[in-house]
Amino acid sequence: MHHDLLVIGGGPAGYVGAIRASQLGLNVGLVEKEKLLGGTCLRVGCIPSKAMLESSHLYELAAADEKNSGQHGMAARGVRTKGVSLDLAAMHGHRTGTVETLAAGVAGLLKKNKITRYSGLASFNSPTEVTVAGKKGDETVTADRVLLCTGSEPSSLPGIEIDGDLVGHSTHALQYDPVPKKLVVIGAGYIGLELGTVWRRLGAEVIVLEYLDRILPGMDAELAKEALKIATKQGLDFRLGTKVTGVKKTKKGAEVQIEGADPVACDKVLMAVGRRPNTDGLNADAAGVKLTDRGFVEINDHWQTSASNVFAVGDVVGGAMLAHKAEEEAVACVEHMVTGYGHIDYDCIPGVVYTEPEIATVGKTEEQLKESGVPYRKGKFPFAASGRARAMAMTDGFVKVLAHKETDRILGVHMVGPHVGELIAEAGAAMSFGASSEDVARTCHAHPTLAEAFKEACLAVDGRTLNL
Ligand code: NAI
Repeated sequence: MHHDLLVIGGGPAGYVGAIRASQLGLNVGLVEKEKLLGGTCLRVGCIPSKAMLESSHLYELAAADEKNSGQHGMAARGVRTKGVSLDLAAMHGHRTGTVETLAAGVAGLLKKNKITRYSGLASFNSPTEVTVAGKKGDETVTADRVLLCTGSEPSSLPGIEIDGDLVGHSTHALQYDPVPKKLVVIGAGYIGLELGTVWRRLGAEVIVLEYLDRILPGMDAELAKEALKIATKQGLDFRLGTKVTGVKKTKKGAEVQIEGADPVACDKVLMAVGRRPNTDGLNADAAGVKLTDRGFVEINDHWQTSASNVFAVGDVVGGAMLAHKAEEEAVACVEHMVTGYGHIDYDCIPGVVYTEPEIATVGKTEEQLKESGVPYRKGKFPFAASGRARAMAMTDGFVKVLAHKETDRILGVHMVGPHVGELIAEAGAAMSFGASSEDVARTCHAHPTLAEAFKEACLAVDGRTLNL
């Protein structure tokens, strides 16, 4: 079989790139080795973790009330619950059902867009020829162009073996049953915070060991500090500046060894120290596709690899390992292939941690602006001063806006608070259109909404908040 474009990988980058290519008139094939389409994000990442985050949040809301504690407590708002119990099997059932439905939806989208699906592991024979090793044998597919979207895999620490039981990564931590009594999470990044939160809510004692002296590396430091304060208040036990050196299996479970401190005993260990590019079995050499020292596929500004007809996008090329960044790259790359145009503003790609409250960010951090000597003004507005947040009894957090001191152009927006994963879209859109903080401050926002906090933070840039 021959295609104009062969896409390798059926995750958010792969299937979205394939659809866009088909829309632009190309004859497209897509290879995926897993039974379900949708990649890490849909099968074992973003989607199932959000199912567990939503469900565990509901459980905490209802259960906290019996104790009449927590800022989300419903009793204080006149809703009393009794006899709340956890049905973990049903919770897992909702997770797997959600994944299966969405994966079937992606298969439907490929069909609708007349994309040929190949099931198996793809490996290059040459820049234009690939063997797909499937259950029913090998198949050779040729293509004028190839788009690599093979994603990433969880990484571990030297000497620590992931056995999938005692020591697992995010895929295993989505499926724990029963709830661990004591869970040690290694790494206070996206995964550590999200999955640590899920199991804390469901009753585990959760200790998060982080090598750095802060959480969420790379994010705005003031934002990360506030997020740390909130998560600690909720019961996550953070131990910062902690270097994990090994994990020892014991009769009762595991002991996580730490440099210069006593080991921590637990019954499960979640390794959340980042992800590495996935090029296993691809035989990139046969296509003349070069990898970087760290194993990422090397690309130019147009996502073209060292083989001129082979392109690569998403986690496998590095940068932010986020599904939406991968999708945008896939669309821009395919558009550039076909039309000669295709562009992404990497400064306008948001990042969201789906804890409660959520943490969301877009653009430059204060540290980055200081480091590059860009003059800026800063406006901040706390959710404690938002009428809507008060009515929801969700007053933790703030919105912070960084705008250029002379032009007033918004350079970065950092939020922690209720539903900020949704609010950040307005900030991203404003930045994409080159908005100034004054533009947003003069935009009428419905009252009472949480979005008003973004407007107020923009007013604060000029020292003229109305509700603080
Ligand atoms: P991460 O890069 O976000 O965080 C890893 C953390 O582990 C860092 O804080 C790092 O300092 C720490 N660490 C490294 N070595 C350590 C050691 N020896 N001892 C203790 N701590 C150590 O990686 P994470 O959380 O594994 O997530 C992987 C990727 O998946 C991220 O790049 C993220 O973008 C993506 N992701 C995105 C989500 C979202 O968009 N909501 C959700 C989950 C993952």
